[in-house]
Amino acid sequence: MSGDIKISVRNLYKIFGNNPRDALAKVRAGMGKTELQRETGHVLGLNDINVDMPSGKTTVIMGLSGSGKSTLIRHLNRLIEPTAGEVHVNGENILTYGERRLRQLRQKEMSMVFQKFALLPHRTVLENAGTSWQIAGKSKRDYADEARKWLNRVGLEGQGDQYPAQLSGGMQQRVGIARALTSNSDIMLMDEAFSALDPLIRTDMQNLLVELQNELAKTVIFITHDLDEALKLADHLVILKDGLVVQQGEPQNILLNPSDPYIEAFVSDINRARVLRVRSIMEKTADLPGAVAGEIDYDATLESVIAVSKGDTTHNYRVMQSGRQVGVLHMQDLVRALVPLKPGERTAGQQTR
Ligand SMILES: Nc1ncnc2c1ncn2[C@@H]1O[C@H](COP(=O)(O)OP(=O)(O)O)[C@@H](O)[C@H]1O
Ligand SMILES: [Mg+2]
Repeated sequence: MSGDIKISVRNLYKIFGNNPRDALAKVRAGMGKTELQRETGHVLGLNDINVDMPSGKTTVIMGLSGSGKSTLIRHLNRLIEPTAGEVHVNGENILTYGERRLRQLRQKEMSMVFQKFALLPHRTVLENAGTSWQIAGKSKRDYADEARKWLNRVGLEGQGDQYPAQLSGGMQQRVGIARALTSNSDIMLMDEAFSALDPLIRTDMQNLLVELQNELAKTVIFITHDLDEALKLADHLVILKDGLVVQQGEPQNILLNPSDPYIEAFVSDINRARVLRVRSIMEKTADLPGAVAGEIDYDATLESVIAVSKGDTTHNYRVMQSGRQVGVLHMQDLVRALVPLKPGERTAGQQTR
């Protein structure tokens, strides 16, 4: 396994019902979720999942309700036992773990942030933040500084003595994040962590997570049914449907190259100018194509380039990364990239050249 993969899911199946073994044979022979349910009464939760989750990055698992997202994330700390397959964390198959090692994995190596916050109502904010330390038998004196540090970092300075019910939903979720950070684990599991929040608060929390990630580089597994949220947070995006991975990869690449009509429908309403970056559609070259209208950053959004170009589609730009030319952006490619393509059609940019 490659060194920068933190969690690796291999040929994972989960079937709910009385006789998952027999049902598994049918699924392996090609039976889908609907047919399995109709013929055997078994529910196909996960169907041959293979996902590598990179260390220090955010992997987003996206899909509609019932697609298997929670079932998948609960396999990562074995809150659910698979019907078949393997889950490797730090290169070890956690299905071989005994009780003690598993408890250690859950307490020391992973933390969870829940949709409904799951704070202890009779404990203060500071005590809630220190939950993992209490479970490990430490006293408040041991963890107070660390807990306060993370409460401050998530914007809850001076709130340590409050009780959860005295805080708004957004603030309670900040406590949830501070609790995860205070535990000092490398891996954060977040199942629809922001889905219950009002839109503006939700945006704040997304921004906070992006900031924290730039600073701390945790391995975050983030579940959502919201594509905008997924595109904002994901380094690696996994799209589930009926327990199957329909497509996974770099989000920009999925937007530009949807693998099937389901994904195409999913991404069709997205504001592509705001999401797509120059790096995804530029021609990769160190050569200059004759006249250029100026220099732009490789990570700039297409929207910002349109503004700079004042809408002139004849321009070419030098694309710069850390002071070095990494490509050339042709405005005509930019315009083409704004129009969603059908699966199988080629994208504009370097691939057509
Ligand atoms: N304990 C269970 N028993 C039976 N079916 C389940 C159980 N848990 C989940 N499922 C089914 O598995 C599928 C995936 O569920 P879930 O992982 O909760 O989806 P999501 O989180 O994407 O909404 C759904 O069809 C759901 O009804
Ligand atoms: Mg769920």
